[in-house]
Amino acid sequence: MNIKNISDRVIYCGVNDRTTDLFEGLWDLPTGVSYNSYVVRGSDASAIIDASDSGHAPEYLHHIEEILGGCAPDYLVINHMEPDHSGVLPMLLSRYPALKLVCNAKTVDMLKGFYGIESNVVVMAEGETLSLGDRTLQFIMTPMVHWPETMFTYLQEEGVLFTGDALGCFGALNGAVIDDDMASDHYFREVYRYYGCIVAKYGTFVEKAFAKIAPLTVDYICTTHGPVWHSRREEICGQYARMSRWEGNPGVVVAYGSMYGNTTAMAEEIASRLAENGVRDIVMYDLSRTPLSHVLGEVMRLKGLVMVSPTYNSEIYPPVAHLADALVARGVKNRVIGIAGSYAWGSQSVRKLVAKFEGKPVEVIAPTAEMKQAMIDAAKDAMAEMASVMAAKL
Ligand code: FEO
Repeated sequence: MNIKNISDRVIYCGVNDRTTDLFEGLWDLPTGVSYNSYVVRGSDASAIIDASDSGHAPEYLHHIEEILGGCAPDYLVINHMEPDHSGVLPMLLSRYPALKLVCNAKTVDMLKGFYGIESNVVVMAEGETLSLGDRTLQFIMTPMVHWPETMFTYLQEEGVLFTGDALGCFGALNGAVIDDDMASDHYFREVYRYYGCIVAKYGTFVEKAFAKIAPLTVDYICTTHGPVWHSRREEICGQYARMSRWEGNPGVVVAYGSMYGNTTAMAEEIASRLAENGVRDIVMYDLSRTPLSHVLGEVMRLKGLVMVSPTYNSEIYPPVAHLADALVARGVKNRVIGIAGSYAWGSQSVRKLVAKFEGKPVEVIAPTAEMKQAMIDAAKDAMAEMASVMAAKL
């Protein structure tokens, strides 16, 4: 059973999902994902903070029953309505019909739309509190991190902040729940990946949310996915703040597509020249073979990006175009981008990749590099120059 005490009054009751292949039907889950939920016990009442998906309802409901010793919870606080956290709601209400649902005004429409729920709803506004007796929950509105109704809940007496998806990550929990009790480096990489896939478009709203919680004393950060952050809470907040501003570490993602290996040779050449120019953190992805989520995560981490594409049907090679479109859709900023490409008879990919980023707050460096059919000295010279310019800008 995955029940762990964060404190005497805050108990983890979430579940691990190790069988779903694609989160949101899009993002691969090589190490699973957790749906985190917590019970807060006050002297007069108890509250569940966030819930679970529908697929793990039996296990989840068993956790609640174990923690409360057969008593009914008084409140369910809904920080976020996405069904990975609310899918179990109909089953919870069936078992505990008097359960009061604590949320904000934007959640009300979603409760009705997703589940037909209109009663027993308690609507909270910015800064309002809910007393559980000797424990107090305070509600902080954080819209668009990453849905309109998202909010944080702060347990005042214990300095515990429940942040929903914010500061969360992919990766099921392997025994321990709190970062103190595990080797947590893996989850830091998964925070980049989760953020790149799910949250990146909403960086401005993340910054606003961080400004709101800055005055609070926070000892534990309880997200809806991944570890509870305690000893590494400042580190993860720093990483998150940098991601929200699109600040990248010095390093380069080389992302390429290739049909017969000629464009791969360009990517290899550029990576080699980057290394010669002192770049130490270089990751390379064949976009035909790497799930997009891993590339997005590394683009969030690193400041440099090189995209290399053949011309295909007079267009950018589809997996490369997909990455470019995904970055533009997320409002990519502050990246140094190098573009290279190849063609067999009609040059299109380089020009069209450059056009994708025109007017965007990124720097597409000159020169670009292009080759016809197979490697030529002129392309090598351009790639060497591109690598030198990029290395100097990281
Ligand atoms: Fe984990 Fe936005 O749901």
